[in-house]
Amino acid sequence: MSLKDKIDIKKLPSHVAIIMDGNGRWAVHRGKDRNYGHQKGVDAVKEIIEKSAELGIKYLTLYAFSTENWNRPWEEVEALMELMINSLNNETTKLVNNNIVLKVIGDIDRLSVGVRKSLDYTLKQTSKCDGMTLVVALSYSSRWEMMKAVRDISYKIKEGRIDPANIDDKIFENYLTTKGIPDPELLIRTSGELRISNFLLWQIAYSELYFTETLWPDFGKEELYKALVEYQKRERRFGKTSEQVHEKGN
Ligand code: FPP
Repeated sequence: MSLKDKIDIKKLPSHVAIIMDGNGRWAVHRGKDRNYGHQKGVDAVKEIIEKSAELGIKYLTLYAFSTENWNRPWEEVEALMELMINSLNNETTKLVNNNIVLKVIGDIDRLSVGVRKSLDYTLKQTSKCDGMTLVVALSYSSRWEMMKAVRDISYKIKEGRIDPANIDDKIFENYLTTKGIPDPELLIRTSGELRISNFLLWQIAYSELYFTETLWPDFGKEELYKALVEYQKRERRFGKTSEQVHEKGN
């Protein structure tokens, strides 16, 4: 039985989020420069988008560039931005043909005009699609997102449009960049690092975490299937007991 056949399509996570890590090490292990690793990382991105959509995953979120990544050597930042522009320009038609909607979360104002132009084009072209939503986290960090939400809510309070006594999870979530997107049931991180790195800290409160030693450029469809099979073995209790979870109606 292949790994893919082991996946129960009726129990797929609706939202998978991925911290794509290890491009640099993948390249260095091969005596190449880090940017070569990022280029190979794009091939993995394409395969995972295609296979996720094919399986019927509704939301796929990819951590492509963090707020902290702005502190990398400028040549690497520039190469990553160029890769982003080229990927958007080259892949827009394929996204549309596969009925994929693009969404971007992050501090977009920090991106160059070139990146924003390509993003706007792909966002517009895919806006009528209604298949899988591909969420790309660009210039994103969870603390940035939460601070922005706190500021925006504070302005509304000052204007008298929100009563602080009414603030609850739902109101707070409406001010996050992921508004309207369900929380990921599964978070994958590649490259053996066991940390979250400022990614979707609010949204992953009850996500299942899956870590693999595989470096991102080597993360292909079989690796995705393996993560999904592992996810489907987990018991998601949300703070309840195992007995409660198995009671009828739960
Ligand atoms: C982490 O590897 C990866 C990144 C910071 C960039 C991820 C970007 C891509 C895969 C390409 C563009 C993405 C899209 C959506 C088109 P690392 O450089 O931190 O690796 P290391 O930990 O081995 O140094």
